[in-house]
Amino acid sequence: MAKKLFIETLGCAMNSRDTEHMIAELSEKEDYEVCENFAEADLILINTCSVRERPVHKLFSELGVFNKKKKADAKIGVCGCTASHLGDEIIKRAPYVSFVLGARNVSKITEVLHKDKAVEIDINYDESEFAFKDFRSSPYKAYINISIGCDKQCTFCIVPKTRGDEISIPDNLIIAEAQKAVDAGAREVFLLGQNVNNYGRRFSGDNEKVNFTELLRRLSRIEGLERIRFTSPHPFHMDDEFIEEFASNPKICKSMHMPLQSGSSQVLKEMKRGYTKEWFLNRVEKLRAECPEVSISTDIIVAFPGESDEDFLDTLDVVKRVGFDQIFSFKYSPRPQTEAEHFTNTVDPDVASARLTELQELSTQIIDAKNAKLLGKVFRVYFEDLNQDYYVSGRSDNNIVIKVKGSDELLGTFRDVKITAIGRTILTGEIVA
Ligand code: SAH
Ligand code: F3S
Repeated sequence: MAKKLFIETLGCAMNSRDTEHMIAELSEKEDYEVCENFAEADLILINTCSVRERPVHKLFSELGVFNKKKKADAKIGVCGCTASHLGDEIIKRAPYVSFVLGARNVSKITEVLHKDKAVEIDINYDESEFAFKDFRSSPYKAYINISIGCDKQCTFCIVPKTRGDEISIPDNLIIAEAQKAVDAGAREVFLLGQNVNNYGRRFSGDNEKVNFTELLRRLSRIEGLERIRFTSPHPFHMDDEFIEEFASNPKICKSMHMPLQSGSSQVLKEMKRGYTKEWFLNRVEKLRAECPEVSISTDIIVAFPGESDEDFLDTLDVVKRVGFDQIFSFKYSPRPQTEAEHFTNTVDPDVASARLTELQELSTQIIDAKNAKLLGKVFRVYFEDLNQDYYVSGRSDNNIVIKVKGSDELLGTFRDVKITAIGRTILTGEIVA
């Protein structure tokens, strides 16, 4: 009988893909199958995130619960970014943990499984050409890693310390993976990397140096593939050629994530983001000129050390001028092994909370006003999820989440949907064609 695997995934889309890779390896090589209840599992994995402090605190309390209620002989493994940055400290603090596997070492999951107290966290380990076994949590959309690690050194960010230097996965492997997913019925691919439009900067082997724009062109030649999405591009690398390809290639979904972080050029400099407020606004202008229907989302950090009231006003100014369709906003959280950890000009926590609230209120107003205009409009939706109460949901090309009454027959199909009701995160519609 198959052994049971419970796996909890925190953090970003790359972690979700790492989880799929680990499930694939474990099911093919070790005969595991996924279960929903950790108390029944033979192996419990937690795929962690360390980008902000809170999830790291949560890890140890969760591990305690797993240990108390797990089956007597079940193993617990800690994987992902917190595994990379805390290493054997995890086993010191929680001695019942069987192994620790870093974000850049997931291909070794079946090895560490058999080595008690193994700690595999080499951030320079090269997995870029590893042939992972095949597992996808959705048959409709294929997540595909195109690069691992990150070469930037944003002063707030722990990722380069947990995922190591940037290496691109050879384009022929990416294209073969996309082709396989399309052959299995997926119509959409979602390309993943910490800095996708820096793709091609470094390959580990002797591979052809293809840049991101060329990779997009090559992928879009796959017959039967209808939608290409990606995250995250970096505003610094948004050159004209990339924006023009984005706008003119009909297979590329017209939704762009542009992580702003701050609207103040001074704060951006302290963050070592490599662009200014003006450059960011110029890129948005170019993007909107080439592609008026584009929706733009962003990430913003408030209260970075030294952020003055004026700096924060610059952030609000960019938010108003761009009118983002979605904002992921965070209070700055000091992280170990980052440059900003040592910055002493910290912002008062009450001021930080007030700024976050103000930013989120502004963003909500903008989004509500945009959504109100969508009533009666028609969007082409690719249905992917079966929801409760006989609803099926999917996304428009420009990333609006839309649900309609219907059954699983709609899954994996494209339909024209007219919007009949507005909600903040999901719109309701009816199929018109
Ligand atoms: N390369 C990715 C960033 C990964 S981290 C990208 O460019 O999108 C995801 C987001 O977490 C970042 O964009 C940033 O807004 C936020 N973040 C990263 N480090 C943080 C920190 N120390 N405090 C608060 N938010 C942080
Ligand atoms: Fe982090 Fe900056 Fe890279 S936010 S992941 S160091 S682009």
